[in-house]
Parts: sequence; structure tokens; C-alpha cells
Amino acid sequence: MMNDEVIKLIENRRSIRSFEERPLDPEVLDKLKRLTLRCPTGGRFSVIEIVDQSKKDKLCALCENQVMISRAPGVWLFLSDMERFYSWMKEKKCAENFGESLNKPGIGTFHLGMQDAIIAAQNAVIAAEAMGMHSCFVGDIIENYEEIQAMFNLPKYAVPACLLIFGYAKSIPTSPLTSRPEPEYVFMKDGYKHQSVDECEKMYEKNTVSFRERGVLPFDNTGSYIEWYYRKKYTSDWMAEMSRSVGVFLDRWLSDEA
Ligand SMILES: Cc1cc2nc3c(=O)[nH]c(=O)nc-3n(C[C@H](O)[C@H](O)[C@H](O)COP(=O)(O)O)c2cc1C
Repeated sequence: MMNDEVIKLIENRRSIRSFEERPLDPEVLDKLKRLTLRCPTGGRFSVIEIVDQSKKDKLCALCENQVMISRAPGVWLFLSDMERFYSWMKEKKCAENFGESLNKPGIGTFHLGMQDAIIAAQNAVIAAEAMGMHSCFVGDIIENYEEIQAMFNLPKYAVPACLLIFGYAKSIPTSPLTSRPEPEYVFMKDGYKHQSVDECEKMYEKNTVSFRERGVLPFDNTGSYIEWYYRKKYTSDWMAEMSRSVGVFLDRWLSDEA
């Protein structure tokens, strides 16, 4: 049986970046947490609820000054978290009890924790919508690891996966929803299919057209989406910072330091 309301909710979801500033009702928050936790999961994640305004402001500064972070009533930092199981195993002497020595958490658990955290976050997105709220992810949370680590006291095996802000929308824009490619470009049958430049241009044609209408394409607005992507995202300072910062937390995870 189809659930039309859920389908409509997914079809009409959009990121919202401006919220009513009133605090969220504790019962609403509790319900949202319980719904978030109903995601498929291996449990290797944690969520830091950021309620302290000075921390929201500092986080805003560390995430390219996106003021929506300071102003959002709900700010949740999802962590890939192997620290909980690792220290629990260590303290219970699990390995010794099997006559073994305990391995450090490997890179596989790092990735599984990422899967757990991001799947939970997307469950929160849909649950928030179902409860009349809206949300937006903030990719910049993987920048400035050293400061984020210190601010939230993150242990070695609990690392930022994603940041979600949410609340009741101040208003819902009347602009069209952002476009998506046709499924045939994204879904590949039985193996990877390399895509030609022509196919890629077609896949992103709607973006190229809408960016051209906004007059933001490179080369005097004659370029295509990929040239915009190259200039604005791929070679940006923030992208370089993301790579540096993720390198630092990955190196720390893989290092022998205590
Ligand atoms: C991993 C990820 C990171 C994102 N980071 C930001 C961000 O830093 N700032 C922002 O305004 N939107 C951010 N977004 C929201 C996207 O811009 C948005 O989802 C996309 O433009 C599609 O629009 P829609 O969600 O309204 O369909 C992010 C989304 C994802 C999935």
C-alpha cells in the first residue's frame, strides 16, 4: 500500500535556512529524537545537540560564517562514533576474555560509523518535515577539525559526519524546487557506466539553464554547470580546508597516539 502523504512529503522537501527563533518544545524534540533513532543502524554514531548560544556562534564562525547556524533553534552534530564501543570493549576486557589483544578501531569502522551517522541524520530530516519543521545540512562542519574537536571535546574515535540545523520555517519560498537529474543518469545497471561529456551536459542541463538565467556561469555566462562547479566549489578555499581537516582527523584515527 502506498502512503501518499509520505511520498508527497519527500517530493516537496526542500532545504530551509531561516527559522522562527522561538525555542523548540521539549516534547517535540523528544519525539524528533525518537524518530531519528528509528533509522536503520549499527549504532556507531552519536549526536551532539548544540544548545549553548556561544557555541552556536563559534560554530557559525568555523563553518564559513553561515549565520543560519547561530539562528537555528535546532543544531545537531552527527558523529561517526566508534569511541563508545571501543572504550566499552577495553574496559570490559573483551579481547583478554577471549585470550586476545584488542585491535584499534580500523578504517572500516570509521566508514560504518559515517554510514550510521548520515543515515540517522537523513531520518531526522524526514521526521522533522513530518512534524512540520524544516532543515538544512551544513557541509562545512568537516572544516577546522582542531577547533571543532576542542570545542566539543571529541575523542579520537568520534569524528564529525554531518551537521543538521532545523526548526519551523520563517516562510516557505515559492521558487521551484531545486532540480534533480533523470534517474537513468544516476542509476547504473549491474556495473559502473562511464558517462561521456555529452551525457553529463544533458544530465545537468537544467542546472546550466537555471544558472544561465541567474547570470552566474563563467566565461561571460556562456559556460556550463561543470565550469561553475570547478570555479566555485572544486577549487575553492573551503574545499581545500575540508580536505586538510578531514586528513587531520583520519590521520589521528589511524595513528598510534593514545
Ligand atoms: C552534504 C551536504 C552539505 C550541505 N551543505 C550546505 C551548506 O553548507 N550550506 C547550505 O546553505 N546548504 C547546504 N546543503 C544543502 C544543499 O545546498 C541542498 O540540499 C541542495 O541545494 C538541494 O536543495 P534542496 O535540499 O532544497 O532540494 C548541503 C546539503 C548536503 C547534502
